[in-house]
Amino acid sequence: MKQNVIDIAYVVSAILFIYGLKRLQSPATARKGNQLAAIGMFVAVVATLFLQEIMTPVVMIIGVVIGSGIGVYLAKRVEMTGMPELVAAFNGFGGIASALVAGAEVARLMAPNAAYTGGALFDGFAAVTISLSLVIGMITFTGSFIAFGKLSGRISGNPISFPGMRLFTILFLAGTIGAVVWMVMNAGMFPGVGNEPVVQAAIAIAVAGAVLGVLLVIPIGGADMPVVVALLNSYSGIAAAATGFVLDNTALIVSGALVGASGLILTNIMCVAMNRSLLNVLIGGFGGDSGGGPAGAVSSEGKTVNSTTPDDVAILLSYASKVIFVPGYGMAVAQAQHAVRELADELAKKDVEVKFAVHPVAGRMPGHMNVLLAEANVPYDMLFEMDEINGEFETADVAVVIGANDVVNPAARHDKSSPIYGMPILNADQAGTSIVLKRSMRPGYAGIDNELFYNSNNQMLFGDAKDSISSIVNEIKQL
Ligand code: TAP
Repeated sequence: MKQNVIDIAYVVSAILFIYGLKRLQSPATARKGNQLAAIGMFVAVVATLFLQEIMTPVVMIIGVVIGSGIGVYLAKRVEMTGMPELVAAFNGFGGIASALVAGAEVARLMAPNAAYTGGALFDGFAAVTISLSLVIGMITFTGSFIAFGKLSGRISGNPISFPGMRLFTILFLAGTIGAVVWMVMNAGMFPGVGNEPVVQAAIAIAVAGAVLGVLLVIPIGGADMPVVVALLNSYSGIAAAATGFVLDNTALIVSGALVGASGLILTNIMCVAMNRSLLNVLIGGFGGDSGGGPAGAVSSEGKTVNSTTPDDVAILLSYASKVIFVPGYGMAVAQAQHAVRELADELAKKDVEVKFAVHPVAGRMPGHMNVLLAEANVPYDMLFEMDEINGEFETADVAVVIGANDVVNPAARHDKSSPIYGMPILNADQAGTSIVLKRSMRPGYAGIDNELFYNSNNQMLFGDAKDSISSIVNEIKQL
C-alpha cells in the first residue's frame, strides 16, 4: 500500500515536471512553469521521506531544510548577470550528489553484514549504473566548478592548456573507461567477500572522473562557458538518471532524463544559433577574458562611419511610425534595460509602433535579453524571436541596435572567411535607418569588424548605452 502511494506520488511529480517544462517555452508562462516543476520536486521529496529505507525522516528533513536554505540564499543574492555561474554551481552540486549516492551504494552492497545490504547483490546492472553515476557525477562536479570559477573571474577565462593536453585527455579518458570495465568485470561479487577490487575500481572511477572534468573544461574559453554550462546541466541530469537506476527511484530517473534531454536540446540550440559545432566549442579555445573572441584583426579598410547625436536620434524616432529595438550584450553591460523601457513608453505615447527583436544568442547566456527586458517590465507581446521579426525590418523606419554587434553583422550572410559565416542574424541593415549604440569601434564577442557600421543608412551613437538612451528620452520629452 505504502509503495503504491509513493509510486502515484512519483507519477504526479513526473507530470508536474513535464507540464512545468512545457510552460518554460514562453516568457509569459515560464514563472508558472518553474513553480509547477518545484511543486513536482516537493511532492517527490515528500514521497521519498516515506520510504524510510536509508535514514530517519528527521535526518532527511534536516537535510532538506539546510539544502533549501542554501538554495534560497544563493538564488536571492545572485545578480541577474551572475545567473550562469549560479547554474554552474547548482549543476556541480547535482553531480557530486549523484556520485556520493553511487559511492554510498558501493559501500552498502559491499558491506560484510548481509542484513545491511537488504539482500541486494552487486550484479552487472548495479556495476554499470553505479559506475556511470560515479564517473558522470564527478565530471559534472569538477567541470561545473571550473566553469563557475571562469564565469566568476576566480579562474582565468582564457583557454588554459599545456603541450600534448589533448592526447593526455584522450589517454585519461581511456583509463577511466578501463576502470569502469574493471568494476563491471567484478560484478557478481558477494557482500564482504574479497570486495577490494570493487572498492578500488570505484575510487579509481571517482578520481578519474574528477580529473577528466577539469581537463575537459579548463581549455575552453570563458565566453563559451554558457554553452559548457548547458552541456554540464545535461550531464548532471544523466548522472541523476543513472543514480535513479542505482536506487530504483522512478522520480529520479524521470527528472534526470528530462534534465539530460533539455540540457542537450539547449546546447544544440545555442550551437546552431552561433553556427558552431559542439566540437568546435569544446576544442576551439574560443573567447577569453576580454569578452571578445579570437584575436581576429579588425580592419575598417579606410571606410568611414556616420556618427550622430542623441538629439538627432530623438527627432528621427519621434517622427517614425515603426521602430525595432535590437538589444545585445552591451545593453546588459550598461544595464540600460530600464532606460530602454522608458524610451519605448515615450515612443508609444507618440503613436510609434515599437517592437523588440531578440536574437537567440544575443548577450552571453540563454535568454539573457528576455531576462533583462522582463526585469524592466517590457511586455512580452513586444518581444519577437528572430524568425518572427526578421521579415519586418524592411517595413521599419528605424532599427535601434543597443549594444548588439555580432548578431546584426551582415558578414554572416556572405563572407565565407568570417568566423560567424552562416550564423543567422537580425536584419537590422534592412530598416530605413539603423542606429547603433556602442562606446567605440571595438568588436564584439567574435572579434570581427561589422559591415553594418559602414552602411550609408547607418548612424553610430557613441557612448554608454544607458547614458545615450537616457539623453534620447530627455530630448523626446521636450519635443
Ligand atoms: P557582441 O557581439 O558581443 O557585442 C556587444 C557590443 O556591446 C560590443 O561591440 C561593445 O562595443 C558593446 N558594449 C559593451 N558595453 C557597452 C556599453 N556599456 N554601452 C554600449 N555598448 C556597449 O554582442 P551580441 O551582438 O549580443 O552578440 C553576442 C555574441 O556572444 C555572439 O557572438 C554570440 O555567439 C556570443 N555568445 C552568446 C552566448 C549566449 S547563450 N547568448 C553564449 C556564448 C557566446 P563597445 O566596446 O564599443 O562599447
